[in-house]
Amino acid sequence: MTLQPEFFPIIKKAGFDTVRLPVRWSAHAGQKPPYTIDPDFLARVEWAIDQATANGLNIVVNAHHYDDLDKDPAAHVPRLAAIWTQVAEKIRGRGDNVYFELYNEPHGKFDTDTWNAAIPVLLEAVRASNPDRPVIIGPVSWNNIRALDGLKLPRDDHNLIVTVHYYEPFEFTHQGAEWAEGSDAWLGRSWTGSEEEKRTVTASLETAAEWGRRHGRPVFLGEFGAYSKADDASRLRWTRFVAREADRLGMSRAYWEFCAGFGLYDRDTGAWRQDLKAAALGEPRGQE
Ligand code: GLC
Repeated sequence: MTLQPEFFPIIKKAGFDTVRLPVRWSAHAGQKPPYTIDPDFLARVEWAIDQATANGLNIVVNAHHYDDLDKDPAAHVPRLAAIWTQVAEKIRGRGDNVYFELYNEPHGKFDTDTWNAAIPVLLEAVRASNPDRPVIIGPVSWNNIRALDGLKLPRDDHNLIVTVHYYEPFEFTHQGAEWAEGSDAWLGRSWTGSEEEKRTVTASLETAAEWGRRHGRPVFLGEFGAYSKADDASRLRWTRFVAREADRLGMSRAYWEFCAGFGLYDRDTGAWRQDLKAAALGEPRGQE
């Protein structure tokens, strides 16, 4: 689905204040130095930034689905750094409602040390032209809260936000997800909101909040959501509980995602899934 201009006012009117834009830069940049980004593609991303900000939305621009980077960081970190140099130079004049997220869900060959070594390289590429822009960085293992302890952020950079993703229990949130191996076996799994289930969610999110306090960094729950193959009542319960816990713990959050398999918005009918949207916004209980 191509990004449509009307999505931005629709999102703003529904009560959201931020959009997170996953960008697959790696598919639109040269393979050799200077790794030039296709100008049409860069202009397209700038268009999305313009649409967001013109509609009063903050926008998080990330680097998403760079599979070769996770397979071979040594070969590809310099390319992603060159990509960020170009993006950052282009965006330097924008306000601080444009956030950069250095890399979505480092995993594969990115262990703690490799990722911690890549962070300053990528960050420097941004900082050369954007000394004050808020930059978002998460831990390895797909931005897993459990991996936060190994994350090392440059201490002298005071405008960093840490991000984590939350999809647990994974067998619930990813049941029937085509890209999650074996996930058909999880179909039918519910989330009842029992005390024990809630305690598990709370404990994880508290770990993230506590990390943020200890390190003096704001925490952004950059993705959470339950795939459409889970039953609706469970999805609503889980989504609302996670959203409200994040609020209670002072974290910002972004639901994954707008109008695909986890979608809050039905692009075929052009209507919000009202109950799910209310849950993602952390609004009081609808009719689950
Ligand atoms: C991550 C992945 C994306 C996936 C989502 C939920 O953002 O990059 O492909 O849809 O998590 O699993």
